[in-house]
Order: sequence, then structure tokens, then C-alpha cells
Amino acid sequence: MMEDLSLHVLDIAENAVAAGAQKVDIRIAEDEKNDLLTIEIEDDGSGMDEETLRKATDPFFTTKKGRKVGLGLSLLSQAAKECDGKLEIESQPGQGAIVKATFRRSHVDRKPLGDMAQTLSALIAGHPGVRFTYAYRKGKTKQYVDTAEMWADGFWKTVAPGEEDEQKV
Ligand SMILES: Nc1ncnc2c1ncn2[C@@H]1O[C@H](COP(=O)(O)OP(=O)(O)OP(=O)(O)O)[C@@H](O)[C@H]1O
Ligand SMILES: [Mg+2]
Repeated sequence: MMEDLSLHVLDIAENAVAAGAQKVDIRIAEDEKNDLLTIEIEDDGSGMDEETLRKATDPFFTTKKGRKVGLGLSLLSQAAKECDGKLEIESQPGQGAIVKATFRRSHVDRKPLGDMAQTLSALIAGHPGVRFTYAYRKGKTKQYVDTAEMWADGFWKTVAPGEEDEQKV
């Protein structure tokens, strides 16, 4: 069902957007020395009270209307546990949330990271008003992208009706 970690990331980031986040930070770190893979998703949304936090990883808990199950966090928790890792959630009402999942990187059941570019483009295209940052660390190398840079002058082109449009799309 969830073949890749990138799909879990998409799911957890969608939770953040559903919680009204304006900024979602996605951090992935591969630490070969300590045989660890860490995924962290931080948002500035509505956050969770103690009771919600307690139930959040229960597959039969959701606050979505018309739904009976809420699988996002429970599936990620399960995936982490299967790889000698765990899921931790830090949150307070009005203070956003930090969801952190750890995995033993070399564990045979550890899912591949998958296509993070696809996850990011789905998030960006689906939620144009939300700022996403993505940091990927492996050893001493760090890659970083911040969609706020796309809003800077000249990056996104806006063509008003009647204006000359060079781009035939
Ligand atoms: N980042 C977050 N901020 C605030 N509340 C959250 C956040 N993530 C999860 N929650 C709360 O935890 C509940 C469970 O989340 P989970 O992802 O497991 O299921 P879901 O989002 O309800 O349904 P599904 O992921 O299956 O579409 C959510 O309904 C929501 O109330
Ligand atoms: Mg969810």
C-alpha cells in the first residue's frame, strides 16, 4: 500500500495542511555512521491537544468528517517500529506539530525513500498558498529547497488578461 517513505511524507504533510499550516518543513537525514534514517515534518498549524495527541496514532481515530479511520500516522508508526525505530509527535494546541519517525537505515524491511520530487510537486501544486521547505541530509551533504523562493519576483510569471503571453501553454 505505502511502498515508499516519500508517500508517508506526503500523507503527514497533508495532515499539516489540513491543520491549517502556512509553513511545512520536511527534513530527512540519512546517518550511515549511526545506521539511522530520520524523517521530521514540522508545521505551524492548529496543533493537537493532549487527548488528540494520545489517540493520533490509533488507526480508528480521525477528526475528518464522515470518516471512520485515520491511517496516516498509524501506518508511519508501524513502518518505523518494523525497522527498530519509532514515531514521536510533539504538539500543543496553537503551537503546530512536529512528527518525527526514525528507522534503522539498514533494516531489511526499511522502505526506500522513493520519489521525494514527486511528493514535493504534489504538495506544491495542491497547496499553492502553503510554504514548503525540504532538507535532505546525507553525511555532510545537505540539499535544501524553499518554495518561498518561487514567489520571489521573476520566478513565477503572472500574465494578466490582455497582456502578451510568450508561453504557449
Ligand atoms: N499536523 C497535525 N496537526 C494537527 N492535528 C493533526 C496533525 N496530524 C494529525 N493530526 C490529527 O490526528 C488525526 C489522525 O491523523 P492521521 O493522519 O493518522 O489520520 P487522518 O489524517 O485523520 O486520516 P488519513 O491520514 O487516513 O487520511 C487527524 O484526524 C488529526 O485530528
Ligand atoms: Mg492523515
